[in-house]
Amino acid sequence: MLKNSGVEQDYRALTPASAAWEQRGRQVMPIAGSRAIAFHSPYPLTIVRGEGPFLFDADGNRYIDLIGNMYALVHGNAFPPIVEATAAQIAAGTAWPANNGPQIELAELLTARLPAVEQVLFCNSGTEAFSLALNIARGATGRSRFLMAQGGYHGTMWEPNLATKGLPGPTHLSAPYGDTEAFLAVIAEHAQEIAAVFLEPVQGSSGLTLPPAGFLRSVREACARHGILFVLDEVISLRLAEGGQQSRLDFVPDLVMMGKIIGGGFPVGAVGGRAEVLAVVDPIAPRALASGTFSGNPVTMAAGLASMRHLTQGAIDHIDELAAILEQGVHAHARALGLPLHTRRVGSMLACFFYDPGPGAVTGVRPDAALLTRLHFASLVNGLFPTPKAAFATSTVMTPALVEDIVERFGRALRSAVEDT
Ligand SMILES: Cc1ncc(COP(=O)(O)O)c(C=O)c1O
Repeated sequence: MLKNSGVEQDYRALTPASAAWEQRGRQVMPIAGSRAIAFHSPYPLTIVRGEGPFLFDADGNRYIDLIGNMYALVHGNAFPPIVEATAAQIAAGTAWPANNGPQIELAELLTARLPAVEQVLFCNSGTEAFSLALNIARGATGRSRFLMAQGGYHGTMWEPNLATKGLPGPTHLSAPYGDTEAFLAVIAEHAQEIAAVFLEPVQGSSGLTLPPAGFLRSVREACARHGILFVLDEVISLRLAEGGQQSRLDFVPDLVMMGKIIGGGFPVGAVGGRAEVLAVVDPIAPRALASGTFSGNPVTMAAGLASMRHLTQGAIDHIDELAAILEQGVHAHARALGLPLHTRRVGSMLACFFYDPGPGAVTGVRPDAALLTRLHFASLVNGLFPTPKAAFATSTVMTPALVEDIVERFGRALRSAVEDT
């Protein structure tokens, strides 16, 4: 880790109130927050307000929000239709152990849009959606193990850090993402033990990795042959099309994990799929339990409805075009500085690499890690809020003029990151 570079000093000088919050937080929380992903050295910002495409920190600095709470805020911060819908719902009460209309309406919207989703169950996060999907698969198959891709991410219930340290747990099996032969071999060897295979159609955590042609379909066919359920994790990829990435791939899994944008900025997760599979949670003759004090609460559901109703194909085309402009802009600045920039863009999501990552999953320490650290500080100092690994996502409230501003700021940030050696 780079220590006390000029850009880090600039960051510290701009953000004393965030430093003070971090110090105070450390007394009572191990990472002064609850999300490891939000942590970076020497301390992350403390944000006090979000408005449209902007975030404001505890010192009053303004940042252009380039990640929208890890791809969840597709309409930016405090999107007026979501604020109005949730304010009305909060005033009418927030959660009851009974049914409510907004969750039926959101389920209707999702079943109408997603080809594989005949019915839906809601929960409170993508992590919970993983747990719910696994329990449904265990109830449906009478088997307990699951298979996922190395470098995949389905939330914290399945602990990737422990897996890489040799503590994979009794139910976990894995194979490299995109390696059809390896997946088919694990399935053939353990067929009678595997309840479900979990795969992402775009692997966000490994640098927006796309599956090679035929991979998802071959694994799906092997699952069908052996009575294993195929779970497609669309937690981040739902923003790519009204019907999710499954509609673009013409791919119909048994179950679908959802989250992020379907909660309009509130905590959410969901599992959808064929009615006969979801029927295992029938309370009269349960083979798996679906429950949760706040699952399907009407505030989240009202926010999700407003979010999804405004995510039309036109809105998706808009954010995809903005991300394409951003991609061209970052390349122009990298070329001007003689840097070997490679990008992966999937719709409105963009990942940057200052080396050639090839087509596969990017895991472990990256060769451009030191430059990324300096670029992260320099981005923050220049009023941009990307992820520490230079991943970006556009939102519907951005305009081409704002994206030009982002590109200009990125150019300044990249120059100071390169000069700051
Ligand atoms: C593909 C994928 N699945 C599941 C999750 C977990 O969702 P949550 O953070 O809401 O638990 C994430 C979170 O980033 C994700 O990207």
